Amino acid sequence: MEQRKLGSTGPNVSSLGLGCMAMSDAYGPSDRGESIATLHAALDAGITLIDTGDFYAMGHNEMLIREALTNVPRDKVQLSVKYGALRGPAGEFVGFDSRPAATRNFLAYSLQRLGTDYIDIYRPARLDPSIPIEETIGGIAAMVKAGYIKHIGLSEVGSDTIRRAHAVHPIVDLQIEYSLIERGIERDILKTCRELGIAITAYGVLARGLISGHWSKDSGKIGKDYRLMSPRFQGANLDANLALAEQLRAVATEIGATPAQVAIAWVAAQGQEIVPLIGAKTRNRLSEALGATKVTLTPAHLTTLAKAFPPNVAAGTRYAADQMAHLDSEKLATK
Ligand SMILES: NC(=O)c1ccc[n+]([C@@H]2O[C@H](COP(=O)([O-])OP(=O)(O)OC[C@H]3O[C@@H](n4cnc5c(N)ncnc54)[C@H](OP(=O)(O)O)[C@@H]3O)[C@@H](O)[C@H]2O)c1
Repeated sequence: MEQRKLGSTGPNVSSLGLGCMAMSDAYGPSDRGESIATLHAALDAGITLIDTGDFYAMGHNEMLIREALTNVPRDKVQLSVKYGALRGPAGEFVGFDSRPAATRNFLAYSLQRLGTDYIDIYRPARLDPSIPIEETIGGIAAMVKAGYIKHIGLSEVGSDTIRRAHAVHPIVDLQIEYSLIERGIERDILKTCRELGIAITAYGVLARGLISGHWSKDSGKIGKDYRLMSPRFQGANLDANLALAEQLRAVATEIGATPAQVAIAWVAAQGQEIVPLIGAKTRNRLSEALGATKVTLTPAHLTTLAKAFPPNVAAGTRYAADQMAHLDSEKLATK
């Protein structure tokens, strides 16, 4: 698989990463054996970048990854870990903590659960509003110095925060939602990252499955599927967004690919510094996603897609209001 460099100071990683969140029941039930087989299939296909969060089913995801990687040499993968989300015993989200002492504590538990002595890219999942970002990055930088972390990343923060963080320690990548129907980073964040030599690891490239061609009004009814909490998956918004998915299907048919493959290829085509994360929890979905690397979008295809998917085309916000409030990335740059 093609490699892309994660920022001017980061490692080379596979041009597609594997995001493992859905393997821990975030998007309906997942199957442990199939999840591990999917991780192995991803590694066999050349994927080296594996993304997780310590709060994905409260440690379950990290322990699953540990099991899957048992016989894999540590230097054959790059582990990207988000931390800082606080949860209660019933699984409820209760805030964010990325003070230096908390960072050290979260990191210690992640190293233990992942069965490793270092993490390749460590990042606060959201901005902790109670302390300056400089303190958070300073705390992570101390752990870099101590050898427990190789590189620092960010997640869902805006240009001002990115600049302040990068002034404390080089940031290799920003993890943020980006897809044909979610173009917020094009306002200023993408430009800021390019200027500073920071890569984008794009998540939600299929809008969480909504534009994959596999989602229908009856989807998400088995188990607990967090997607249903997103306004984009509800009521009239869902109807409008599924109509967009059908538009994508029409373009994909012309191209000779599936909608999911075109959606992934479109994100990958937006720049060499962008690495799409694939959220597959089954080998079938992964195999389809990998087909995106064979899709070449011509200038004519890109023009057709640009017309069909202008910025702000999605109906509904990408998260529910309480979660939108945690997105520093939704704030516009002040300079
Ligand atoms: N930093 C952050 O705030 C943040 C937030 C969310 C996620 N993430 C990371 O980004 C990763 C990807 O995010 P995401 O899962 O929301 O992205 P996504 O790729 O937009 O959605 C993945 C879902 O789409 C469906 N799908 C349909 N066809 C697919 C195909 N060919 N390949 C893959 N999936 C297909 C699957 O659900 P079905 O199996 O039901 O079809 C799958 O679980 C996560 O695993 C996580 O590591 C980060």
